[in-house]
Amino acid sequence: MEKILVLDFGGQYNQLIARRVRENHVYAEVRPFSKVPLEEIRDYAGVIFTGGPNSVYDEKSPHYDPAILNQGVPVLGICYGHQLMAWMAGGEICSAGSVSEYGKVTFRADACALFEGLPEESVCWMSHTDYVRTAPAGFTVVGRTDSCPCAAMCDAERKLYGVQFHPEVTHTEYGKQILRNFLFNVCGCAGDWNMEDFVANSIAKYREQLTGKKVLCALSGGVDSSVAAVLLHKAVGKNLTCVFVDHGLLRKDEGDMVERTFRERFDMEIIRVNAQQRFLDKLSGVTEPERKRKIIGEEFIRVFEEEARKIGKVNYLVQGTIYPDVIESGAGDASVIKSHHNVGGLPSVVDFDEIIEPLRTLFKDEVRAAGLELGIPADLVWRQPFPGPGLAIRVLGDITAEKLDILREADAIFREEMAAAGLDRTTSQYFAVLTDSRSVGVMGDARTYGCTVVLRAVTTDDFMTADWTRLPYEVLARASSRITNEVKGITRVVYDVTSKPPATVEWE
Ligand code: XMP
Repeated sequence: MEKILVLDFGGQYNQLIARRVRENHVYAEVRPFSKVPLEEIRDYAGVIFTGGPNSVYDEKSPHYDPAILNQGVPVLGICYGHQLMAWMAGGEICSAGSVSEYGKVTFRADACALFEGLPEESVCWMSHTDYVRTAPAGFTVVGRTDSCPCAAMCDAERKLYGVQFHPEVTHTEYGKQILRNFLFNVCGCAGDWNMEDFVANSIAKYREQLTGKKVLCALSGGVDSSVAAVLLHKAVGKNLTCVFVDHGLLRKDEGDMVERTFRERFDMEIIRVNAQQRFLDKLSGVTEPERKRKIIGEEFIRVFEEEARKIGKVNYLVQGTIYPDVIESGAGDASVIKSHHNVGGLPSVVDFDEIIEPLRTLFKDEVRAAGLELGIPADLVWRQPFPGPGLAIRVLGDITAEKLDILREADAIFREEMAAAGLDRTTSQYFAVLTDSRSVGVMGDARTYGCTVVLRAVTTDDFMTADWTRLPYEVLARASSRITNEVKGITRVVYDVTSKPPATVEWE
């Protein structure tokens, strides 16, 4: 299979580079530079050296055997990778703080295979202190900026290219074009890789690795854990056991839908633990959001632990970790806004040998594509994110079975109306919240005094920031009218017009 190696020197955009390559239907994998023997380089159609925080002259900086440049395999060096390539080939690198460039910079390109289709001047994204002062012998300078005399270089004969800027980020105007040029003009890729291959290869790999082993998966019904579970199921069949903890904080009919899908459609070994009452008891009288989250997270682990104990020793634990989770968990000491409840806390309580994370390199849209490929129903694949603590953080104040029922009904109506208006896939997330404030209403000739429901819809790429969605009035009107008519106990419906920040997506 045609594939590109993203040789990781510690840059922050490494997975993004791989993703950009895969968008062009060429398979790419990111591997740490220290784990790839030179002999394996020829297995690849091309290699991309990533950026990295170091200076090539640092003793501790990551280096690679310069013979890589003579393997007949095209190489593209990006940022630190560009400097490293220059250094390997005998060029001169300068460390000069005064010329560090950060942000959008005008780049002037010369004609070459890498820059086909680029205008003479375009915007590129720079983030560096060191720069290449003199291109190595055999290389030609093919691009410059005001403070970077060798912002791009090439040795066309050996198919070696280097750029000081980051073509993988969207701020680089022609970045996608440059990567396309590298893949197709320089490496001669065919571009025939697709999700079907990724899925087929993963299944084959796990089948070989795990035959005869016991595998356990905590299934939440969310997209990621569902895709991971189905993939592993295709590889090991009945040796996979899924544990689905129904904490009673799911949306209307959700628990049954999840169970039915996996048991009937995929014939999987699934243990549904009906722990609704147990969670309700623990949450009784609790109003403080962080406490709710902690209680649910802990109780979830307890329930899972009990089930896992019944199963006994397992060899592998499957987790639906996807690439954004990997970035976030490495984010260092960012302050805790909310304690996110995920299955991340499980490993220490389960007796297993190893964790398997089949989706670790994929972005959300790629996970969805894999899900469809695996035959998971579209409504499950396209589900919007749903927080681990579920409706508990959408019922403000203390939680009761009755309040949860009211919210479930209101939320279901809102979702129906969003789907009927065709907005369900274009809106990043939307849901109802049950507040603890009451207001006076009138129904028939009688006074009512009922709950207030908030409708919330947000548009976002990454959920770190979000804008409230400008939903059509007709959709809001229909949802409001149906909710007040059909859900007993609700007198008022309001729409949340706050962005994140200053608000968060969820209310608690
Ligand atoms: P916030 O409210 O932090 O939400 O702006 C951002 C995104 O994260 C989801 N969310 C969670 N997801 N466990 C999760 O798996 C959680 O505890 C949790 N809390 C919030 C939220 O639904 C939104 O998509």
